[in-house]
Order: sequence, then structure tokens, then C-alpha cells
Amino acid sequence: MTDTFDFDALRAEEFGRLDAAGIAYLDYTAAGLHGASQARDHADRLARGVFGNPHSEHQASRDSATAQAAARAATLAYFDADPAVYDVIFTANATAALKLVAESYPFALRRGLALTADNHNSVNGVGEYARRAGAPVAVLPLDPELRLDRGGERLRAAVLAHGPGLFAFPQQSNFSGVRHDLVLVDIAQALGCEVMIDAASAGPYGGLSLRRHPAEFVACSFYKLFGLPTGVGALIAKRSALARLRRPWFAGGAVDFVSIAHGRHALKAGREGFEDGTPNFLALTAVDGGFAFLERIPQAALRARIQALTAYVLERMTATRHAGGAPLTRLYGPRDLEARGGTVAFNLLRPDGGVIPYGEVERRARDHGVAIRGGCFCNPGAAEAAFGLDRPEAARCLDQLDGRFSVEAFRTCLDGLGEGAAVGALRLSVGAPTTFGDLDRALALIETYVEG
Ligand SMILES: Cc1ncc(COP(=O)(O)O)c(C=O)c1O
Repeated sequence: MTDTFDFDALRAEEFGRLDAAGIAYLDYTAAGLHGASQARDHADRLARGVFGNPHSEHQASRDSATAQAAARAATLAYFDADPAVYDVIFTANATAALKLVAESYPFALRRGLALTADNHNSVNGVGEYARRAGAPVAVLPLDPELRLDRGGERLRAAVLAHGPGLFAFPQQSNFSGVRHDLVLVDIAQALGCEVMIDAASAGPYGGLSLRRHPAEFVACSFYKLFGLPTGVGALIAKRSALARLRRPWFAGGAVDFVSIAHGRHALKAGREGFEDGTPNFLALTAVDGGFAFLERIPQAALRARIQALTAYVLERMTATRHAGGAPLTRLYGPRDLEARGGTVAFNLLRPDGGVIPYGEVERRARDHGVAIRGGCFCNPGAAEAAFGLDRPEAARCLDQLDGRFSVEAFRTCLDGLGEGAAVGALRLSVGAPTTFGDLDRALALIETYVEG
């Protein structure tokens, strides 16, 4: 399947700067990279075009509006969303898209939030709006492979106990790479819930058809999909679901009418009532070009390539051992390729099984030109499940450190309890430009920790 597309030619033509800079970039879950032609085409568009504030009515303003309409159409097409049913609200990033729903959702005593334990903090934070409204918050736990543990069953129990509300989950976990079964959308909606999918870390390999799984809300950031532009994300929302939200404020661009003398305002209807202020109209002119760039790579070929790269790194990491036979790596998340993307979380171990602090590995990786991520990746629920920090011992440490928390103090406390737990991991993630050579460089770095 991979030979239907020449990924080596793509790397040479569009991402040669990685080789020129000597960087093995393996952080695609944090940010995708733009192809050189994307940057050239966008620079050319800006050099030739005259783009004005889209809130005016002159030609330069209309040209911005036309570019935005193209960006909207491309976004709807990518998520296979019927334009009669869905609209696209441009935001600063996925976080801002999620917050639009969080602050406007009619949370109440029997209309709460249910969420999987592996959400990014930009979704976990939605719980604060729910709690402020006195609404229940239910968290669906993970199994030892960091997949959802009987998600449908537990969601049913939560709805039975607290009533239906908003159900939020990531299409793909940014910690473990687990891709959740989209049948969850159908299950939640059959229970009377509305569904919000965080597609920010799902990778540019699609898989979400809103015609088949018509979630009410989907959030994304464009730089994660195709690198350029940064500073723009989107909330893809059912028009009917938008009408049920209640905005807590108004802003320039989102109102039809405001009277200061009489303290009244009227929000614009639909999408326009949610787009606060002037959109990033120059960056938005890069969005349809980004999708066009993605379309050059057949989705099936990309998925097969990501699987092949992921299989290679999982296999090699599992096989690498210290001279005495002790494992060098501890992998978190699925060991197989079933329902997972190209994100791999791990720690390195000493021969006695102790965890090598992730910050130390991160530093050495940087010195070796290997770009990987360290920490919890803003996904504390998956991290707690991975590290076993959901146990009472960890709660005791948190109580002890209340008010003077630091990661170091937390680790010291856990070590004091004889836990020896990790408090952060490393994450390697692959994308369309990744070569097996990039992975070999990461594996060579990892092997510098082999002892004996
Ligand atoms: C799963 C997930 N959700 C949300 C976000 C937030 O995206 P942004 O920082 O672009 O708002 C991220 C970013 O890493 C993510 O991985």
C-alpha cells in the first residue's frame, strides 16, 4: 500500500530542510510541519493579494471573506460534514474552540459532563464550567493499555445516575495514540447526550466522517494537520447545536446591535455570533492550501505508512535491552497496531528497573538533534493511569504537598513511599515526512542508555 505514494520523494521535495538542519523531527503530535511548497504558495498569495479586514465591505475585505469561505468548505470536506447541517467557526486554536462550547453549554444539576480519562487539559478544563453550574462530572476510566475500559457501559451508567449532558473525548489520545471507537458518538447520542470530539491530535489521517458519526461539536487546530498556518483553529458544529448554546458575553464582530444607553445587545445568528473580534484573516488564506497539500497524499497510503513506522519503532524499542537482559524501555499504551495512531509514549529504565528522569533523556535527545517531547503532554488522566498515580499513595503525596506542589517534590514524595514511579514520560510521534532513518536516530539515542 505504501508504494502507491513515494514518501521519500515527498521528504526530499518538501521537507529537505529537516535534513539540511540535521533534525530528526519526531514531534508531530505537538505540531505538524508544512511542506516547502505550502510556504511558497502562501507567501506568493500574500505578495500578490490585497486582503483587508473581512468586517468591511470593500473588495480587499471581500477577498478575505472569499478565502475564509474556501477554508470553511475545505474544513467541512475534510470532516465529511454536510454544509447544510454543520458550520465552521474559526478560533485561535483548538483550545479556544473547546472553550466556546465550555462557556456556553447549558450545564445544570441534571445536565453534566462525561469525559474519558485521557482528555487533554483543554477538555479537562470544561469540567470547571460544569462544576460552577453545580453539574455532575463523570470520568470514564482507562484499561491497562490506556484504551477506554467498557466506555459504552460506563457512559450508560453515568447518564442513568445524572441524566444526559455533554460527552467529550479525543479522537486520538495525544498521550498513548489510542484511537477511540467512533461508535461512542452513536451510543452517547442514543442516550440523549450531545458529543464533542477533540480532533486536535488525531493526525492528518482523517477517519472522522460527520455524516457517519454526527457529533455535535469537533475541535481542531490547523497547524497539527499541516503545519501552516499557526494561530488558527476551528469549531465544527451542528447548526442546531449552536442554537442551543448560550454565550456568556458578546464582542466586536459577533453582535448585530448593542445599546450602551439601554444595556441591550443582540448576538448575530449562528456561526457569526461565535466569531469574536477580527479573525486571523491572513493566516486563514493558508488553510485551503494546507488541505490541498494533504490531498496530494492518498489517505490509505498515509495510514499504511504511519502503521509501518509505528510498528518499526514499537518492535525495536521492545527488543532493546541492557546487557544483563533487563528491558531498557517501558511502553505506555497499545503494543499492537489495532486502533492506534503514530504516537508512542515511553520511559527509559535503568537495569534495576528505576526510571531515568524524562528531562535527562529530553536533554540528551536535544543534543543529538532528535526532537521528541517529555512530560505528561497536558494529559494528566492518561499519565496517571500509565504511571499508576491513580492509587491512594499518590493522593497522600498530593495532600502532603498541598499549596507547595512541584513535580520534583511530588517525585521525591513518591520515592519516599518506595513507589519509584515515573512522573513524566517521553513521546515520539511520526508524520508523513518521517523516514525510517529518523527513527533509527531516535533508537540510536535510546541505545546510548544501554548499560553493561
Ligand atoms: C488532544 C489535544 N487537544 C487539544 C490540544 C490543544 O491544542 P491547541 O494548543 O492548538 O489549542 C492539544 C494540543 O496539543 C491536543 O493534543
